[in-house]
Amino acid sequence: SETKMWGGRFRQQTAGLVEAYTESVSYDYLLYAQDIAGSSAHAKMLAKQGVLTQDEATQIVNGLAQIKKEIENGEFKWQQKLEDVHMNIESRLTELIGEAGKKLHTGRSRNDQVALDFRLFVSDSLRNWQELLKALCQVFINQAEQHIHTLLPGCTHMQPAQPVSLAQHLLAYVAMFKRDSERMNDCDKRTRISPLGAAALAGTTYPLNPLAVADELKMYGTFINSMDAVSDRDFVAEALFCAGLTMTHLSRICEDLIIWANPMFGFINLPDAYATGSSIMPQKKNPDVAELMRGKVGRVYGDLFALLTTLKGLPMTYNRDLQEDKQPFFDANQTVSHSIQLMTGMIGELTFNPQKMYKALKQGFLNATELADYLVGKGIAFREAHHITGSAVALAEEKNLTLEDLQLSELQSLCSLIDSDVYEVLKVENAVARRNTPGGTGEKSIKAQLEIFKSFVK
Ligand code: ARG
Repeated sequence: SETKMWGGRFRQQTAGLVEAYTESVSYDYLLYAQDIAGSSAHAKMLAKQGVLTQDEATQIVNGLAQIKKEIENGEFKWQQKLEDVHMNIESRLTELIGEAGKKLHTGRSRNDQVALDFRLFVSDSLRNWQELLKALCQVFINQAEQHIHTLLPGCTHMQPAQPVSLAQHLLAYVAMFKRDSERMNDCDKRTRISPLGAAALAGTTYPLNPLAVADELKMYGTFINSMDAVSDRDFVAEALFCAGLTMTHLSRICEDLIIWANPMFGFINLPDAYATGSSIMPQKKNPDVAELMRGKVGRVYGDLFALLTTLKGLPMTYNRDLQEDKQPFFDANQTVSHSIQLMTGMIGELTFNPQKMYKALKQGFLNATELADYLVGKGIAFREAHHITGSAVALAEEKNLTLEDLQLSELQSLCSLIDSDVYEVLKVENAVARRNTPGGTGEKSIKAQLEIFKSFVK
């Protein structure tokens, strides 16, 4: 077939459905900027090595720059029959500059070309995610600074456990996103490695300089083994895991927001811009954005598993199966970027109801641990103190009171060592203020955390 770039040895036209089935340009056009950067770097290197003339390289670089403009102006004509982004761009280059265009692919295969493009794309995405996560952490930090003295029930098993500062709760998320960002940065070091020079699978006879290409593209280094270089997609799997875990963390905030927005809690007011109404119930203000974000996590996990399944059992080296690596990543990339940005908007505009939170502290005996610790201070062993406190809780529950509502005489009937100084200890404010162990919810500990997190987002 005359029309195909690889058509020299073919006698028959491609069957009807085959073209539509095998094409990837309908989605891999997204790699155009990376493809053009990679080809320009390759051409410059070829000229330095004496494989192309300087004039040929200049024509190629200028032609590619013009193609980039055409693409960005929406003037470029993408053609399915040219299969993928690489052949669409190369074909247009030859149309524009003639002979020199046909020399660009010297010492290169689409196998190392696509691996390079995709590595650059994934790396650029990982860097973008890190920036977006820092912006998200910044809005959490801003809210936390406003709410160091706002208290709410801290829960385990979704049951009231101990009072905490709202800032402490919010900064827990910053801790997760800091780790996510660091994980992405680590992944980038293995991703931004150039496979160019591996050619189809075995290297090439041209005197290439792979390191020059890697330097030009500001990459960390080059491949070690040509067969691995064209078939390795570990970086995609790692990046998809990074995206998946970030989505996990986002979904946990979504869950908190959904619960807190329920009027039975009433801890927050969702910003109108991030909530939706009901078509039948006029009173409703639903947390649809948070729910949908929680739901989208499933698809991002699916993207990771789609890729891992594609990779499983692949023989060496490049196999066309690998073309299926891109859509899962593009999908996850869009979902995770949009989710982080939406969460940033939502948290930035969130307003809290400290009175509702404070009222909630009256339920669930959140200061029971304080009483036990108080008894330990009076010389009682912790297990015994735990037991006495349990009896105090039972007594208060029976009378429908809080621990601090019990009379001193009632408390003393459970343990004669209890004195009137117990009431200071039982105040929730004091319970929080006294927890200044490293990473704790006391003001000093929170301020130390804020220092760490602020230098992270800088
Ligand atoms: N579109 C292809 C991909 O995404 C490019 C590499 C094709 N290589 C080949 N030998 N057919 O994997």
